[in-house]
Amino acid sequence: MDIVSKPTILSGITPSGILTIGHLTGAMLNWVRMQDEYNCYYMIADMHAITARQNPAELRQRTLDTAAMFLAAGISPEKSTLFIQSHVPAHSELTWVLSTFTGMGECSKMTQFKDKSQKHSENVNVGLFTYPILMASDILLYQADLVPVGEDQKQHLELTRNLAQRFNHHYSDTFKMPEPYISKVGARVMSLQDPTSKMSKSDENQNATIFLNDKPEVVKNKIKRAVTDSDATVKFDVENKPGVSNLMQLYSIATGMSFPDIEKMFDGKGYGDFKAEVAEKVAEFIRPISEKFAEISSDKNKLKEILSVGAEKASYVANKTLRKVYKKVGFVNF
Ligand code: TYM
Repeated sequence: MDIVSKPTILSGITPSGILTIGHLTGAMLNWVRMQDEYNCYYMIADMHAITARQNPAELRQRTLDTAAMFLAAGISPEKSTLFIQSHVPAHSELTWVLSTFTGMGECSKMTQFKDKSQKHSENVNVGLFTYPILMASDILLYQADLVPVGEDQKQHLELTRNLAQRFNHHYSDTFKMPEPYISKVGARVMSLQDPTSKMSKSDENQNATIFLNDKPEVVKNKIKRAVTDSDATVKFDVENKPGVSNLMQLYSIATGMSFPDIEKMFDGKGYGDFKAEVAEKVAEFIRPISEKFAEISSDKNKLKEILSVGAEKASYVANKTLRKVYKKVGFVNF
């Protein structure tokens, strides 16, 4: 299949911290799997990152680290287009147009806006409020068919679809209607210290999060310290046993085993054995990624070359859509 006949994927990650195992299982593992069958655009969403205050030098470094992590996870620059969001100005240009199609109420009901504005009450800026419109622009510029994401992005995808439909209905068909693609396992990895909340790159408790550049010993220690419950049976039950279910999820991803098979394997055994085995397998699962990350990060020039080529390819496609949009809304084009 050539690029024209393949369906299109777009997805991205915000470089606001070191990537976690949640980014791998909720997003990047699917991205890697989909590279052959889809025309893929994978983006580092640096413009999203500045909705919270960032140290400029750190943001620059994390943006490149995120790109290196994409490659370390198995994204191939020969198959997929990798780029930095701020290198393609069409993203902010389309955001302005789409913001005139978005109701205030649609943005204020976003769970992530509510959570983040509560967490960072000292800086509830307009960008944090309109962030989902930027995300809709990211997706719609590339006429994406599918958007592989974790569960927390579902609501943003719904807004994206509503905006696409509203614009298409008001003018004429302009945007493709994108579908979310969410895995059954791994779409919501929980904190190791509070398994009722999502594992996050910005958690203050380092033991709560498995970072993709953690050394195997560190991964093992974090898993051994993970919060479980007092009834020592290994059973998948998210509501009553969130900690154990979260570890089972990680084990299932690392080994490919189903939940019933994992339950059978640990029948009659305590949490000590279970955690030791999860720690071993998850550490081994992360090891090649963190090793590759170190190798790729050492060649900054190659990384920059990949991202420059990616930005050029992405701009070509994005500008095509933006031109259509500008024409439809009535902007003069000489
Ligand atoms: P971000 O950077 O928070 O997360 C990137 C991707 O990783 C998934 N994810 C998780 N999946 C499972 N368990 C977790 N604990 C976990 N944490 C994160 C997220 O669901 C997401 O798929 N706004 C987006 C980035 C973005 C984007 C886009 C995504 C910008 N433009 C366009 C798709 C399409 C964000 O901040 O994701």
